[in-house]
Amino acid sequence: MSSGISWYIIILTVLNVAGLAWLLLAVRPKPGETTTSETTGHVWDEDLREYNNPLPRWWLWLFILTIVFAIAYLVLFPGMGSYQGTLGWTSAKQHDEQFAANEARLQQTLAPFATQTIEQLEQNPAARTVGRNLFANNCATCHGSDGRGAPGFPNLVDGDWLWGGSPETVVETINNGRIGIMAPWGEALGPQGVEDVVAYTLSLSGRTVPAGNAANGKARYEEMCVACHGPDGSGNPALGAPNLTDKIWLHGGSPAAVRHTIELGRQNEMPAQGDRLGAVRINLLAAYVLGLHGSDAAP
Ligand code: HEC
Ligand code: HEC
Repeated sequence: MSSGISWYIIILTVLNVAGLAWLLLAVRPKPGETTTSETTGHVWDEDLREYNNPLPRWWLWLFILTIVFAIAYLVLFPGMGSYQGTLGWTSAKQHDEQFAANEARLQQTLAPFATQTIEQLEQNPAARTVGRNLFANNCATCHGSDGRGAPGFPNLVDGDWLWGGSPETVVETINNGRIGIMAPWGEALGPQGVEDVVAYTLSLSGRTVPAGNAANGKARYEEMCVACHGPDGSGNPALGAPNLTDKIWLHGGSPAAVRHTIELGRQNEMPAQGDRLGAVRINLLAAYVLGLHGSDAAP
């Protein structure tokens, strides 16, 4: 705050408090005075007048108390321009203290889980409860409150992993995040090539498609797609390349959705959580997610 504004605020505040004190002194009742026959001089509706009685004393004292309170407050707390107040209170400091207190409480809640392995956490009902709350607060916006995902956001319950389902990989996924990129192939394939490859891709999971298209598509697939999705279409968890044979679709399995993926590509990101949540919470989440996985395994 510039010192000009600071003085402006100080002067306004002091004038206000002093003005109120002066007003109180001016209207204070004379000793012993409680009522008066004087009127304010105003007349309403021809004959209604108002007595000019002094304020009751208790009321006056309330006013005096508020002025005393205001002065004490302005000495102790910052209220006068850039003057800091004798207590040195700031909202930032209060926030930091409350944050530290919360953090301490959180560490206390997390402490019993800090020494357990993911497998132990998975078996521990208390850990599952904490994991469920963490999931609801940090993950459900994208993966759904039941973990079943949405187009583009993987289902975590279905027994299928893009990046692998060992405890270490799941921890790494949550910690560092993942970026899944499928380049667009529309230009390289041309319109007919796209139709052929779509047909072949759909045939990988047992869909009936025109045999001619699929045969042409197979040749293009072996040229352009095997490096990531594998010769049999079973994918590659090291790249996050999905298994194309299992009827589980990240971006949708309708011919239109598959055509979109192949022609225009897809770019998908799981944001890293490690810095935000720390190791213990990541482990609790990994255990919770691994527990979800068992609950709805694919046939
Ligand atoms: C902003 C949205 C978003 C949030 C928030 C988010 N995720 Fe994800 N998550 C994704 C996306 C998108 C992917 C898929 C990445 C890809 O396509 O490879 C993913 C992938 C994953 C995977 C890998 C799934 C697999 O099949 O390999 C796991 C596990 C996971 N998320 C867990 C979590 C957990 C636990 C949290 C909460 C701490 C979380 N995610 C929060 C969007 C999100
Ligand atoms: C450089 C590696 C790479 C190549 C080459 C590649 N893909 Fe992909 N593909 C991926 C990745 C990674 C994803 C997952 C994208 C994501 O996480 O959203 C993917 C996703 C897909 C999907 C969506 C699957 C689903 O579950 O929704 C289809 C379909 C697909 N690819 C087909 C193809 C075809 C057909 C080709 C060849 C023309 C091809 N891909 C070439 C890496 C590749």
